[in-house]
Amino acid sequence: QGHDRDNSMGINLYNDEQLRELAEQVNAAVRDDWRAGPLVPGAKPSTADTVEVTNPADRRQMVGHWQPADSAVIAQAMDNAVAAQPAWDATPVASRAAILEHAADLLEQRTPAFMALCTKEAGKTIPDGVAEVREAVDFLRYYAGQARTLVAPESLPSPTGETNTLQLAGRGVFACISPWNFPLAIFIGQVAAALVTGNSVLAKPAEQTALVGFEAVKLLHEAGVPEAVLQLLPGDGATVGAALTGDPRIAGVVFTGSNGTALAINRALAARDGAIGTLIAETGGQNALVADSSALPEQLIKDAMASAFTSAGQRCSAARVLFVQDDIADKVITMLAGAMAELKVGDPGQLSTDVGPVIDADALGMLDRHAERMQDEARLIAQAATGEDTAHGTFFAPRAWELKSLSQLDRENFGPALHVIRWKADELDQVIDAINTTGYGLTLGIHSRIDETVDYIASRAKVGNVYVNRNQVGAVVGVQPFGGQRLSGTGPKAGGPHYLPRFATEKVITINT
Ligand code: SER
Repeated sequence: QGHDRDNSMGINLYNDEQLRELAEQVNAAVRDDWRAGPLVPGAKPSTADTVEVTNPADRRQMVGHWQPADSAVIAQAMDNAVAAQPAWDATPVASRAAILEHAADLLEQRTPAFMALCTKEAGKTIPDGVAEVREAVDFLRYYAGQARTLVAPESLPSPTGETNTLQLAGRGVFACISPWNFPLAIFIGQVAAALVTGNSVLAKPAEQTALVGFEAVKLLHEAGVPEAVLQLLPGDGATVGAALTGDPRIAGVVFTGSNGTALAINRALAARDGAIGTLIAETGGQNALVADSSALPEQLIKDAMASAFTSAGQRCSAARVLFVQDDIADKVITMLAGAMAELKVGDPGQLSTDVGPVIDADALGMLDRHAERMQDEARLIAQAATGEDTAHGTFFAPRAWELKSLSQLDRENFGPALHVIRWKADELDQVIDAINTTGYGLTLGIHSRIDETVDYIASRAKVGNVYVNRNQVGAVVGVQPFGGQRLSGTGPKAGGPHYLPRFATEKVITINT
């Protein structure tokens, strides 16, 4: 028996009436004058030009402004971070954990304000906004709880009568470089992990979501993180990212974003003299959903829709390709087209909206170019209608195409674009090979009622998260630790038991008693 779950939506936390009230509070909390800039104590004002933020759902609407950090601000932040780290590391872990838990409480209390900003700056729908805040709160509490036991000194065996103790401590200064698709959850997850293990942090939010990053850092300061221990450096990769990853005083980088940027960071860290850096990277995927002829079509369609189109497909976990066994393929394709015709694409502030805008004109341009290419190379199965309210936003009408082979997709298409490929009963090995040949390895969905088939695919696919007979998005902190392998990332998994140790350095003290 499957569960009728929609954990990706996060809205199960609220009944219908509460959700309507929340949506009203979110819309009441919308502003047009959010401001952000570097948060660096003692720095002279940045000389960089301010950047205007407009609403992705309607580019005529002003959301706010932010100012990037210039090189003098970055230099000051680095000095501050180095100077502040030892005292923070010496602060009892219980105090650091309590600060994160206090931040979680504040964030919960301010849910509507953070959701409003996520909607206006990042185009998040109401259900996505609920899930975003929930995940950020979960990261804060999960890492706080874990650090209490992990960072406490641990007695080791003493076979020779000597006492041996293992101590974890911060590595030093961490650069946290986060993406726009989870501007609050991933931003806070990275920062919380680095802070609670005793590092000072220089946080670079994505340029598209600098306002959310700014509000998150203000909240963490209010909760008790010293201002020099957590500093915000908004700006682009060429200025802020490169200055951080090229500096030998950076002990580690935690990065979520594109594979190309992860590789560039890896090279930058390796090119420094006098420092070996730690890199924790989570990147993209070419995620598949494999359905055999025993799959329940209604459940498959519901889960494929959630996997491909939740968050306008702008999740690294999202399904990009549905491999469906030929016996049920016609039926599934017809049902998919029917479900896509029901999608409501439009203003993410409306509770009824399923799919909001994509993040910016560049993202839209890449999707449009992909659609043009697919026009020649694939068969269009369905294209969802866009509402009248989409004319001034960066919207991409969700689309599904039928392809012959996965090799027709040369890159991850980061948006509401699904590809369907038929396979025959004797081609399962080719399907698994095709998935593994992409080089990526993030999520995999399997829909089958045959245990042997599930085990066969799950054990052979080189991926990080396998979801069976459910959707493949919305990993829950501490429940489905999230992250991929190979081109999809270095590990360890965010929200999992092995994440925090990577942020820490280990010391063993042996005393001859
Ligand atoms: N953690 C997110 C998810 O599981 C990543 O995109 O959907």
